[in-house]
Amino acid sequence: MTKMTAPAVTAAKGTRKLAMLTAYDFAAARLAETAGLDMLLVGDSLAMVVLGHEDTLSVTMEEMLHHTKAVSRGAKNALVVADMPFLSYQVSVPEAVANAGRFLKEGRAGAVKLEGGKEVLPQVRAIVAAGIPVVGHVGLTPQHVAALGGFKVQSRTAEAAARLLDDALALAEAGCFALVIECIPAPVAALVTERLPVPTIGIGAGPDCDGQVLVFHDVLGLYDRFLPKFVKRYAELGELAVGALTQWADAVRNGTFPGPEHVFSMEPEAYATFLSLAACTPPDGSKTPDGGSV
Ligand code: KIV
Repeated sequence: MTKMTAPAVTAAKGTRKLAMLTAYDFAAARLAETAGLDMLLVGDSLAMVVLGHEDTLSVTMEEMLHHTKAVSRGAKNALVVADMPFLSYQVSVPEAVANAGRFLKEGRAGAVKLEGGKEVLPQVRAIVAAGIPVVGHVGLTPQHVAALGGFKVQSRTAEAAARLLDDALALAEAGCFALVIECIPAPVAALVTERLPVPTIGIGAGPDCDGQVLVFHDVLGLYDRFLPKFVKRYAELGELAVGALTQWADAVRNGTFPGPEHVFSMEPEAYATFLSLAACTPPDGSKTPDGGSV
């Protein structure tokens, strides 16, 4: 696979489906990379699945950067997209550009993602003008959870669906090279996908999007606090992990771990000398009988 770039993602529209997965650390990035994923999203969902918060609002720029750096080290070909956390772009346009820039400069990401419709157009235009590729995010935008009253399906009325289409077109026009559309009725997502010149990456938005994104821990069965309807688990690694850890703890307690194959040996002569040195070592271990340091 060749290195994925923002223009390559846009060019994929209408030619093939794009697979994006969240990743929050080096090990996950390497697995996803080996599996041939097109894009790795260092999602602010890490607040929930990695840091244990109730929602995505608490995660900071520094925490997002820390994880972005790790993912970038593990991703050779996949395009790393860093999620801009709550209040890192809403307060002012200059702050939005500076924070987006940190994800490329320090985090070595290839793009950033931010949530919102027309209200974030000034930020999108300025970030794109600074040479930073931007992914938009409409529909259910988890950073608005307080205003939305929970994690709910969006755009179910004709008016709300029309507003979403308007927002999506405006974001593409402002320079977004792709758009995540989350938790909206499938027919609305299909129409948005048809009208948009850039790829739609759906999550809970049906099969007609140009690509799909899911959370790493959801796909692999590593997060059991909440399972949205749109998630399909492809493995139950959480159960496997608990089984393996239980076996290991039992082996430690019953003395079968470590086995002979896990230990390091010592030359018999060196061991014999060690025994005689140990016999001469006083209980406080500070000095040898001849006055030297231990
Ligand atoms: O943070 C995240 O994981 C996301 C995806 C759900 C698209 O924004």
